[in-house]
Amino acid sequence: MSGEGGWVPPPYPYDRLDDLRPQAEAHDGGAVDLSIGTPCDPPPPAVVAALSTSGAERGYPPSIGSQRFRRAAVDWMGRRFGVDVPLAATAACVGTKELVVGLPAVLRLRTPSKDTVLYPAISYPSYEMGAVLAGCRAVAYADLAAVDPGDADRALCLWVNSPGNPAGQLDDLPAAAAWGRAHGVPVLSDECYAEFTWDGLPHTILEGGLDGVLAVHSLSKRSNLAGVRAGFYAGDPALVQYLMEVRKHAGLMPPGPVQAAAATALEDDVHVDEQRERYLQRLQFLAGVLTDAGIPTTIPRGGFYLWPEAPDGDAWALTGLLAAKGGALVSPGEFYGQSGAGHVRIAVVQPLERLELVARRLSS
Ligand SMILES: Cc1ncc(COP(=O)(O)O)c(C=O)c1O
Repeated sequence: MSGEGGWVPPPYPYDRLDDLRPQAEAHDGGAVDLSIGTPCDPPPPAVVAALSTSGAERGYPPSIGSQRFRRAAVDWMGRRFGVDVPLAATAACVGTKELVVGLPAVLRLRTPSKDTVLYPAISYPSYEMGAVLAGCRAVAYADLAAVDPGDADRALCLWVNSPGNPAGQLDDLPAAAAWGRAHGVPVLSDECYAEFTWDGLPHTILEGGLDGVLAVHSLSKRSNLAGVRAGFYAGDPALVQYLMEVRKHAGLMPPGPVQAAAATALEDDVHVDEQRERYLQRLQFLAGVLTDAGIPTTIPRGGFYLWPEAPDGDAWALTGLLAAKGGALVSPGEFYGQSGAGHVRIAVVQPLERLELVARRLSS
């Protein structure tokens, strides 16, 4: 039975690369997939061991996260950013994509008079999708100072993402928090790439206080645990409390063994330092290769994506060329908004040997 006049999901961005995949795979050595930002490096052995030894399989896990998981998150924020966040203002989520996409619907329950989600014009597509799935208006902004006052009045939330996916920029988080407070709009700060900040120290929006802001953190990138689905959120106590209560009713909870593994991962920083080295080395190597191939490419200020402009402005053509000649799958910038349509995004989520293979193919 088909729906009538209902919403039809658009093609999933990465499925649109399916036509290019055979060309990349035809190369000796196969395709080098640099499209989705999915980690390829192993998580620490102690984290993997925690998945099978926690004893947390039988009972229902706490939706808000175990004391140990939340304590590990609070302690990590203290170590990494120098912020002192109360345990009561910190809670677990099942990876952060479900939180990102689900937040507008929950915020709308809380404030039915508002209906607009403001999100960066070049960004991770889930900010817009969360608005669409909640029946809200999704309004992209390029510059906070230029947000239409009518949109600000109607805003349920404003998303920021620093370091940013895909462009690797670092935002002025204190300015975003101040904008939100001035307009009475909660600022949701997606900080999943904070550990991979290359220009200066990492920052969280919580450094300027908890009032009116929410920081969202993922274990996926930090600890190579995208398959485990663990993250957390922290910030404005009243907002966190509301989210915790709604999410309990909705049955949203990371599995018990996952919570144990996430705590173990957050308690350790050594593996993150090692991962930082890997990403930085790959970013530097591939930026050099692309620049030598006539595609000027700079290192981002944060994150693990390169974001070069297609030399003739045609990002789909560059995506096709990299697949055909380099055997590499990358993402055309329009996946991240029309304003990004002249760029491609290249995730350095393959070992150096695989990137060297792409380099040899491009130079042959
Ligand atoms: C900016 C941004 N936010 C959130 C996520 C979601 O991460 P996860 O659901 O694995 O926590 C991603 C994943 O690519 C991302 O790039």
